[in-house]
Amino acid sequence: MAGRRGALIVLEGADRAGKSTQAKRLVEALKERGYKAEGMRFPERTTEIGKLVGSYLEKKSNLEDHTVHLLFSANRWEQVPLMKEKLRSGVTLVVDRYAFSGVAFTSSKKDFSLHWCKQPDIGLPKPDLVLFLDISPEAAAKRGDFGNERYETSDFQKKVQKRYAELMEDRSLNWEMIDAAQSMEDVHSAIRQMSEDIIEQAKDQPIGKLWI
Ligand code: ADP
Ligand code: TYD
Ligand code: MG
Repeated sequence: MAGRRGALIVLEGADRAGKSTQAKRLVEALKERGYKAEGMRFPERTTEIGKLVGSYLEKKSNLEDHTVHLLFSANRWEQVPLMKEKLRSGVTLVVDRYAFSGVAFTSSKKDFSLHWCKQPDIGLPKPDLVLFLDISPEAAAKRGDFGNERYETSDFQKKVQKRYAELMEDRSLNWEMIDAAQSMEDVHSAIRQMSEDIIEQAKDQPIGKLWI
């Protein structure tokens, strides 16, 4: 219906929690049910900024830690006009990683505070729902070995998990914790139901601003 916006739904969680699998399935399921829905991911590696970030993650280049943090954030900001346009035209966006990954990963590096890491993402479109796919390192390990990208070590991932836990204490955001060790089908059903509920709730509300 005219004037009704789509919802901004974000998936976060540890490596191999099932974010990409579930994001894809959720978009398909929402479309089957007659909603307008599209997927997005961060980093979006296809843009000029995204290529710099991608090359850094693949360890083909080195970037200073503050610099790469700001590039990850810029890679989100450059998509904001498109995100707003889509949301306003009634499209629900299902986003694979967002600012929470940005903060959780950089703040796991030495001498980076959560406070500093949040600053460049303040004011981004605020998610209506953040689905945290929760999985133990042991259960994730059963889904395969780490790849060769930067950050794919178990020590670093443990720090990241702690930072996510701190971010989830923020009650101004609508966090939902999902047991990601369940079958793909059960995880899917849970997040589909939550997503349909939030689409109904968000449709008449203005798009919020993150961390403001
Ligand atoms: P992420 O994007 O969070 O890193 P993926 O969606 O790429 O995770 O999933 C990582 C691996 O785990 C893939 O091989 C995927 O098929 C598998 N997987 C995803 N969800 C489940 C699940 N609920 N149970 C078992 N394996 C899963
Ligand atoms: P991604 O492409 O989602 O990889 P995967 O599906 O294997 O988890 O994410 C790439 C890496 O980038 C991942 O280690 C998390 C990290 N990252 C940041 O450090 N900062 C950010 O802002 C984002 C979005 C991701
Ligand atoms: Mg993924």
